[in-house]
Amino acid sequence: MADMQSTNAAAPAIIRRLDYRPPDWLVPDIALDFDLDASATQVHAVLSIVRNGTHDRPLRLEGDGLLPVEVKVDGRTLGPEEWALDGGTLVVPLNGQSHQVETRVEVAPDSNSKLMGLYASGGLLCTQCEAEGFRRITFFPDRPDVLSRYTVRMEADKSRYPVLLANGDPVEKGDLPGGRHWARWTDPFPKPCYLFALVAGDLACNADRFVTMSGREVALGIWVREADLPRTAHAMKALKDSMAWDERVYGREYDLDVFNIVAVADFNFGAMENKGLNIFNSRYILADPETATDLDYDGVEGVVAHEYFHNWSGNRVTCRDWFQLSLKEGFTVFRDQSFSADMGSHAVKRIEDVRILRAAQFQEDSGPLAHPVRPESYMEISNFYTATIYNKGAELIRMMALMLGWERFRASTDLYFESHDGQAATCEDFVRAMEEGGGIDLSQFRLWYEQAGTPHVRAMLSHDPATGTAELLLEQAVPPTPGQPDKKPMAIPMRVALFDPASGRHQGDQLLMLTQAKQSFRFEGFSSAPILSINRGFSAPVIVETNRSQADLAFLSAHDDDPFARYEAMQQLMVNVLIGRIGGQAVDEDAVIAAIRDTATDPQLDPAFVAETIRLPSEAYLGDQMPVVDPDAIHAARDALQQRIGEALEPLWRDIHAGTKANAFSLSPAAKGARKLRNIALHYLVASGAQDGPQIAFAQFHEADNMTERQAALATLANGASDEREAALDIFYNRYRDDALTLDKWFQTQAFAFHPNTVQLVADLREHKDFTLANPNRVRSLFGAFAGNQWAFHHRSGEGYRLVADCIIALDKINPQTAARLVPPLGRWRRFDEARAAMMRAALQRVLAEPGLSRDVTEQASKSLE
Ligand code: PHE
Ligand code: ZN
Repeated sequence: MADMQSTNAAAPAIIRRLDYRPPDWLVPDIALDFDLDASATQVHAVLSIVRNGTHDRPLRLEGDGLLPVEVKVDGRTLGPEEWALDGGTLVVPLNGQSHQVETRVEVAPDSNSKLMGLYASGGLLCTQCEAEGFRRITFFPDRPDVLSRYTVRMEADKSRYPVLLANGDPVEKGDLPGGRHWARWTDPFPKPCYLFALVAGDLACNADRFVTMSGREVALGIWVREADLPRTAHAMKALKDSMAWDERVYGREYDLDVFNIVAVADFNFGAMENKGLNIFNSRYILADPETATDLDYDGVEGVVAHEYFHNWSGNRVTCRDWFQLSLKEGFTVFRDQSFSADMGSHAVKRIEDVRILRAAQFQEDSGPLAHPVRPESYMEISNFYTATIYNKGAELIRMMALMLGWERFRASTDLYFESHDGQAATCEDFVRAMEEGGGIDLSQFRLWYEQAGTPHVRAMLSHDPATGTAELLLEQAVPPTPGQPDKKPMAIPMRVALFDPASGRHQGDQLLMLTQAKQSFRFEGFSSAPILSINRGFSAPVIVETNRSQADLAFLSAHDDDPFARYEAMQQLMVNVLIGRIGGQAVDEDAVIAAIRDTATDPQLDPAFVAETIRLPSEAYLGDQMPVVDPDAIHAARDALQQRIGEALEPLWRDIHAGTKANAFSLSPAAKGARKLRNIALHYLVASGAQDGPQIAFAQFHEADNMTERQAALATLANGASDEREAALDIFYNRYRDDALTLDKWFQTQAFAFHPNTVQLVADLREHKDFTLANPNRVRSLFGAFAGNQWAFHHRSGEGYRLVADCIIALDKINPQTAARLVPPLGRWRRFDEARAAMMRAALQRVLAEPGLSRDVTEQASKSLE
């Protein structure tokens, strides 16, 4: 085996979708035995393997940082010349069709700072295997198309680790001499190794039950530190609601006798759908009124649902290879979005989801890291857990559901689940199920999976009074993206309605299919020129430009019966004023002020919808509308308009603020809506410059019986300079210094503030005794928030870039996955003026020059410079 080449860590290999080959060996069964210990855990694995097809290739088991202590085949220990390590991969030549292969390794959870594989978090031992963490636990063909039945035995010190959990059902347990104990779990459903999980620790359980639609009883458990038990009620409610919803809406029933969730403090992403044993970032489990905002509550509900829904869309039907990631993520995001809409307001949920899509995915799609929903290649798969795979992927499913209609869509998902149950499938399998179940041809629609970039649609409405005809001309263009200079026209479903300005009504909502580069649609029966409502419900994830006047937009902001289109009209009205002002034109602000007043005083409207609608577009969104982003001009114009709105409607803001003061905390939609509206009223009131603004904000901060109002008041104060600002920050810190999740908000609020000294404040906070690079939530609350604060991060001094680059370099040595997520903000240099662009590139080059840089950061930084 001396001719084995070892991989060169300095030049990460590129993995390509079209190179997919079925696995050489299958592993129908695996038995794992863990002797758990924080600094030295022994892992004994017994794999029953079967040759897949006719070939003479050796068995290759991936490993990352592992050294085999022992390798056995069919019970016989192999000599050192009978196996080899190729890079991290264990290579064993074998002659037969099937064998039993055993390995022993030792791992050290407490020095695993990458949080991939088996690691320690606050006294617990837990695992994270997606995408390629299992190879850090044991040697295995670590790819999602190898499905195995797992038996897991765990042994540990009973006082440190009284609770031992793994996938599936518990089957046996017992005590051992020396204060030790053991437990065995089996999972009857074959699964890929990325869904393996175990947890050991001193945990308390919120236990409940769910009876499925066929009458089976499932034992539910949410496992947390004892002190956190009172904060698990919302997650448990969300879990039961999700289980019932998936039965009712998709006909999907849970399939094991137990379902466990564990909350951990140190976690790279949001949560993980391991079969029967979901592991969560504690921020998506723990919530109570004292420490969680309404947004946090919604986050808990949405993520609990997301992970639960993966049991079908992800686990029962999994992915063939990681290029198919959106097969499970896009579909599951669509499912969790629909669930949350059903639990609250469809209108508000859609607005929130589109705002996230535009802020994260549209930016990604227009920069150097743009990639298709089904990528063609990658260096490090962890970098592809992106807004494109997740959120744009969800939009693709939503478009198919819209084109099919709910009943045919549901017939198609039934077909998909039935025909691929127990299999590792592809995006193509999903689309084919939609075609077969829905009786529709999706040939052109498939381009959405292949072509990156956000399509632009120009919509020009003209009217001929002589014939009473309106003509809508639609033109589409998909911009070039890395590796894809030329694009084909896409199939774009556009929901439109034409309003008669006299009656304020339209003749019906229509779904137009735009399939050509340029296409026109005629509508008869309009004696006067109609007003165009387009991309209603945000039917397609595209950028629409129209020839609508400010008057048309004002009309729609008052009359459109599609809530998303109504919101959008208002936002566009504001964008036009702000972009005009930034460009030095004196655009009339009064129409915006009048529209805000009318919306805020309309008694028919849901307060939560009002609050979304009267909010100014973010600085980043305004930047997206400009050929070259000017952060200072954007901030100045937005700030000035905010002040104008504050002043012009000051009595209204005072009224709303006083009138929405709640008596006691409730999570009802009415109470949540009132808080949302109250916070925006406070915001405008303070922005007006009213003398008593800071006092009113401080009073809200002080009197609030919930975090939604307290944090909003703190955020409002954090923008300005006042005694109240310093007092509130001090009080907040002292009150929550021992509660990590809440202290994150203290860091985040300051990093996100519109304060002239934010750059210096962030530099100081980095040195704060409570700041640490070891906890991803803390890193994101300071540096993630800061990099999303356009005005501060893009400070003309370039200091913001330096801070983030320093953080990436330091963090890469500890946790490359989380470090790599801070790179994309620096990669947007093409969107800025030359001076800023040069400093951003220099920051990326400094990162790339760092010796021993991870594959994760290398990929993101080098692509960002191309
Ligand atoms: N699969 C997880 C989800 O979306 C995300 C995740 C990926 C978590 C990788 C951890 C690691 O639900
Ligand atoms: Zn997911």
